Amino acid sequence: MSYIKSNMKRTHLAEEVSSHHIESRVNLMGWVHRRRDLGNLIFIDLRDVSGIVQLVFHPDNTELHSKAHKLRNEFVIGITGQVVNRKEGNINPNMKTGMLEVEVSELIIFSESEPLPLQINENILPEEEHRLEYRYLDLRRHKLQNNIITRHKIIYHIRKFLTEQNFYEIETPILMKSTPEGARDYVVPSRIYPGNFFALPQSPQIYKQLLMISGFDRYFQIARCFRDEDLRADRQPEFTQLDLEMSFIEEEDIFNLMEAMFKLLFKELLDVDLPKFQRMSYKESMERFGCDKPDVRFGMELTDLTSVFEQSAFKVFKSAIEKGGSVRCIVVPNGASYSRKKIDELTDIAKHLGGKGLAFCKVSNGSLESGISKFISKQESINMLDKNGAKDNDLILFAADSNKIVFKVLAELRNSLAKSLGLITPNTYSFLWITDFPLFIFDEEKSRWETAHHMFTLPKEEHLKYFDEKKNWGNIEGHLYDLVCNGVELSSGSIRCHRYDIQKKIFSVLGFTEQELNDKFGFFLEALKYGTPPHGGIAPGIDRVVMLMTGADSIRDVIPFPKTLKAVDLMSDAPSGISEEQLNELSLQIHKQKKE
Ligand code: AMO
Ligand code: AMP
Repeated sequence: MSYIKSNMKRTHLAEEVSSHHIESRVNLMGWVHRRRDLGNLIFIDLRDVSGIVQLVFHPDNTELHSKAHKLRNEFVIGITGQVVNRKEGNINPNMKTGMLEVEVSELIIFSESEPLPLQINENILPEEEHRLEYRYLDLRRHKLQNNIITRHKIIYHIRKFLTEQNFYEIETPILMKSTPEGARDYVVPSRIYPGNFFALPQSPQIYKQLLMISGFDRYFQIARCFRDEDLRADRQPEFTQLDLEMSFIEEEDIFNLMEAMFKLLFKELLDVDLPKFQRMSYKESMERFGCDKPDVRFGMELTDLTSVFEQSAFKVFKSAIEKGGSVRCIVVPNGASYSRKKIDELTDIAKHLGGKGLAFCKVSNGSLESGISKFISKQESINMLDKNGAKDNDLILFAADSNKIVFKVLAELRNSLAKSLGLITPNTYSFLWITDFPLFIFDEEKSRWETAHHMFTLPKEEHLKYFDEKKNWGNIEGHLYDLVCNGVELSSGSIRCHRYDIQKKIFSVLGFTEQELNDKFGFFLEALKYGTPPHGGIAPGIDRVVMLMTGADSIRDVIPFPKTLKAVDLMSDAPSGISEEQLNELSLQIHKQKKE
């Protein structure tokens, strides 16, 4: 054994050292977390993956003492020492090992450290960009390490649970054919076939269905997915799904399996007993919360006031209704005291989301005042208060527009107000299945039908007749479901279309020509012809699950080496250009320089 002239072997991790070891000798290894050189005594906090323990160097061993004197933060050392109780006044109740220290008799310096470009201090965090540039140093922080270790534990329990449920873990290709799946593909040029490209999978969707056709019955994979899309706080260009698929099952089987799995994870890792998961149809979720991933831990639900304001003297309301839109509101409890400034801030949120403004009024002594109250008749006021239940001292916020904008604005306001009003109890979890999604949604901008989720979903049998007439396409519902927790979409899945004839109908609504179909999905459509079992699945986003379970604010805090919101890796400076030689080998030529 030699780490270059040393025969020391580690016996314990820092936080394994406990009162059981008093008077014993231990060998510890790790980083100098903090040093206090009192001239006489030298104290070192030694840090390793388990945590921290205090070392002490006494002055009587002069050679050792002068070596310890040279230690600086982040040097990597090994020590031999004797565990002793700390003196009464020196006990640190905030440290797991705070009642003891290790009196060092031998010190090895494995490697020195230059002064760090960023400080490892949980309380004063440097700018995130700086931390991402030196990610390996930022990852020395206990909190981040803990997130990554929790991630490991979650995946361990998932693997164990699913294996016990007769699932097989099967890998699927990373280099695959580019097939439209919703987002843009990341593509990889082929050297051997100039001008041809592989795509990185947006998800293993097609492969897992093919595995069902092959007869594997139950598949799962901790799968990396790649999507070139606009990033948001809970999105990364490469992320991880627990991807799974089962044959001869129905929605209930997926619901039961996932409930059991999440209950197990929360019990094992957080000692939390999750209550039964709620269920709500997509329609109900939109009407009550304005979105398909509602946080149901607080009220402030939407009220539809379209029927109240059909003849409104307020032209904003009247014209929205005339154009086929709606007027809806949320009631902010005790919001009547909001200042003009605060209401202007809320109005800015509404405008940012595409709303034209944010009408409001306040309730006082049973009647309406300020804002748009002068445009509301006595009868309208009675009808409205009857519907939305607003009380004295409440603030009513209205959106009037197309349903799409009204829902978007009020759903966002509801979430942001709940945070500022403190309506959400921390460390509570509200799991909810959203079901009965429409299969298709008409995209006004692109003027074409798109799938609400993805294109391999089985339509409800009673809605198959709607395929015959274009005007009914919006009414076709699929066996689609999302699992939502605390306002975050954790998972998405469906029962798949196992019939070639129905799958072709779906593709024709989406406007694929026969030629396009054959080019893009020929292999998959052909597979459907050779005996396909009814099957279905789901894919929880692992990063989001870890965020939820660790309470992390950012998806970047649960991924060891994440990318920024601009989809770059600041540490390795990727993406970056490649050499002329590589380009030539790939038969590629760059004709547009990257936008700055
Ligand atoms: P979907 O596209 O809805 O479904 O993705 C499933 C889950 O993956 C997570 N997720 C993401 N997480 C981080 N960054 C992203 N960019 C990102 N995009 C998605 C979310 C989401 O709920 N093949 C289907 C699943 C199926 O039907 O079985 C699919 O990929 O948590
Ligand atoms: P205006 O008549 O444009 O001055 O608007 C009067 C009030 O209605 C202001 O508070 C606007 O913010 C609000 N408002 C305007 N358009 C809308 C809309 N589409 N939905 C809700 N409120 C609106």
